[in-house]
Amino acid sequence: MNPNPFKPTAGKRPPVLIGRESVIEDFEEGLDNGAGAPGRLMLITGNRGCGKTVLLRELQRQASERGWAVVSDSASLGLCDRLVDALRSNKPVVTSMEFGPSFGRMSVEAARTKGETLRGLVNERLKKLGPGKGILFAIDEAQSASIEELAALAVLYQQVLGDQDATGLSDSDQRGLALVFAGLPSMVDDLLEEPSVTFLRRAQQRTLGAISLPQVRDSYIQTVECAGLCIDAGTADLAAHKSMGHPYMVQLVGYYMWRSAVQRGSQVIERRDVEDGHADAVSESTKRLTCLCITGCAPHSASLSRLWRLTRAS
Ligand SMILES: Nc1ncnc2c1ncn2[C@@H]1O[C@H](COP(=O)(O)OP(=O)(O)OP(=O)(O)O)[C@@H](O)[C@H]1O
Ligand SMILES: [Mg+2]
Repeated sequence: MNPNPFKPTAGKRPPVLIGRESVIEDFEEGLDNGAGAPGRLMLITGNRGCGKTVLLRELQRQASERGWAVVSDSASLGLCDRLVDALRSNKPVVTSMEFGPSFGRMSVEAARTKGETLRGLVNERLKKLGPGKGILFAIDEAQSASIEELAALAVLYQQVLGDQDATGLSDSDQRGLALVFAGLPSMVDDLLEEPSVTFLRRAQQRTLGAISLPQVRDSYIQTVECAGLCIDAGTADLAAHKSMGHPYMVQLVGYYMWRSAVQRGSQVIERRDVEDGHADAVSESTKRLTCLCITGCAPHSASLSRLWRLTRAS
């Protein structure tokens, strides 16, 4: 039996990462173009299920492949302390605070002290890296961190740039820091209002929205054929329309249309599989959204219920 290639699971890399080439290219360019390149400071935003986590992981992969150290965290209060621990222990941090509660603010002074500790550790670690390499801080769920901690990291970014300039090395040999925050759109609104980090307004901002339907169609054809079944262009196009280009729905519709064909004992995904698969996808997404709301993700229920309405409407 051919395993189902679609991955309707939070944070799971999809079989094809559709429509994110430009963000990845900008980031790669940032790493390759030396100190001060714009792609090294990025804010990625989007509603639930639009692919922030998988994109962030892809950026981490790109950085690792280039010999950069990667420290990642799913943000909550204590972010800077965990980053300090990670740098001291040489291990990347990954905590899971999905749908974490929102926390109170910490004093600006406390955040500054944490930032100073991090600065010393970052500079120490950078000395051990080769010319042109650096450290990537990849912070997911950034809307759950305190704004002071995010601001402390942003300030750290600028300080490290200055520290590296002071070494007198050429830009391409200087070690660097890259900082990518991913979070719900509210994260950017809050962060950009923070007076201490106005320079963040010049960071690269990327909003992840729906993927173009022709790209979704092509990815369906590619994924289905690589995994051993067949689908024609018209049927793949119908499936793409049913998904509305929402990344999570792309995986969910794909998963259930595949399952429908396999249950019929067919090697070919037909229009009826797409229709049945879409009905199953809507019912599954509705169940998950209900479950998420019951388990306390009230702060994000507006975007969830919007997705719910969208899936019902199609
Ligand atoms: N570019 C993409 N192409 C195809 N599928 C994708 C893409 N991005 C994400 N997905 C799929 O969408 C689903 C949600 O992705 P992910 O968990 O990264 O979203 P998210 O924005 O982090 O959601 P949340 O805000 O709930 O954390 C996963 O099943 C993933 O495989
Ligand atoms: Mg996520």
